[in-house]
Amino acid sequence: MAALVVRPSGPLEGTVTVSGAKNSVLKLLAATVLAPGRYHLHNVPEIADVAWMGDLLVAMGMTTSRPAPGQLVVDSPAELLPEAPYELVEKMRASIVVLGPLLARFGRARVSLPGGDDFGSRPIDMHLDALRSLGASIELVHGFVEARAERLRGARLGLDFPSVGATENAMMAAVLAEGTTVIDNAAREPEIVDLAAFLNRMGAVVRGAGSSTIEIDGVHELHPVEHTLIPDRIEAATYLAAVGIAGGEITIAGARPDHMDLLVHKLGQMGMRISPCPEGLWAMAPRRLSAVDVSTLPYPGLATDYMPLLVAMLAVADGVAIVTENIFSGRFRYVDELVRMGADVRTDGHHAIVRGRQWLSGAPVRAHDIRAGAAVVLAGLRAQGETTVSEAHHIDRGYERFVEKLRGLGADVDRV
Ligand code: EPU
Repeated sequence: MAALVVRPSGPLEGTVTVSGAKNSVLKLLAATVLAPGRYHLHNVPEIADVAWMGDLLVAMGMTTSRPAPGQLVVDSPAELLPEAPYELVEKMRASIVVLGPLLARFGRARVSLPGGDDFGSRPIDMHLDALRSLGASIELVHGFVEARAERLRGARLGLDFPSVGATENAMMAAVLAEGTTVIDNAAREPEIVDLAAFLNRMGAVVRGAGSSTIEIDGVHELHPVEHTLIPDRIEAATYLAAVGIAGGEITIAGARPDHMDLLVHKLGQMGMRISPCPEGLWAMAPRRLSAVDVSTLPYPGLATDYMPLLVAMLAVADGVAIVTENIFSGRFRYVDELVRMGADVRTDGHHAIVRGRQWLSGAPVRAHDIRAGAAVVLAGLRAQGETTVSEAHHIDRGYERFVEKLRGLGADVDRV
């Protein structure tokens, strides 16, 4: 099994190019279920999650190919097997977003129920309620969601919480429904806007994506398209965190500062200088940052995916910070790994108190999930001695050429 070995590094310097957004491409691939034909996607990262979503499309009867770096072609045939098996959903819970589009196009879908994960229990009740509101009958049978509907009917649905996945499932179901659907309290993430752009290009009529109310007029059929993905804001944030921890001056080519407003503001309060530049984002960090309190919220709030990166930064910043995780109840497990590296972090429920230290101390640690894995690697940049991060396959799920990109900035990181 792969592990990453990290040694103290910095100041970092140079340019790193950000890849296409993981959390966008997974949903666009699900959307290729909606109409037969050939789709051409650009700026697609080579990461494990994309390969797994490709496996799911293939299991349903599609074919995929990578004609050139960053490109992905999907051929969606007229008939598909509208099923997502346990083995694939269990590996990647984002597969649940095929439920809405399968149901919309084929009138039936059978998708394995995803289990909980390292963030705690991850229910999909809002996904199912949204589809029921559109007229689907849904049963849970032997660990599978079995959904049926002659033709979905547009409706007004209010989400209890602006869930990203539930908003996406509802959008992809509503585009082929009869009549108009209104989603209240919709998620507003940039990936939702990218999905709406993709669907509209396919011939759908989606208004208001990026706001809390999304309106969709159902159409009878859609057509395949060519589309370029938005950049991955969480990956861009990871390189900002790297320079925040190790110090230095870097350029993040391809980043969209307008997708990261609040994070840029927070990092500014911590002492970083960040500004838009022709390539994307320019960032400079002093040798040591100052602590600030942080708290996650749905977009445009501070993303929960930034939190492990921020906690790693705060672990070596000057001062004490209170951090609050409002999205996933169980998303502090990686803190134990940082503590093994000498970080002074105490958690209580969804809060943590982080007392910054000058230096951490290299240790063998584990990558719990994609972002937590990245965070402990970055912590290793300010840990005396050597940090070995095992289970690095979690990092490969979401980061394209992570080691190479960090090394390109001067970080001392190897894969073993
Ligand atoms: N929730 C429910 N019921 C539902 C759906 C969600 O209670 O039916 C709860 C969740 O348990 C959580 C909250 O609502 O407490 C928000 O979950 P959301 O549905 O917004 O998250 P998601 O769609 O499952 C996506 C990203 C995550 C990211 C979250 C929050 C993808 C593939 N995943 O998950 O990204 O953390 O939104 O922004 O888009 C990652 O990239 O590593 C990652 C985990």
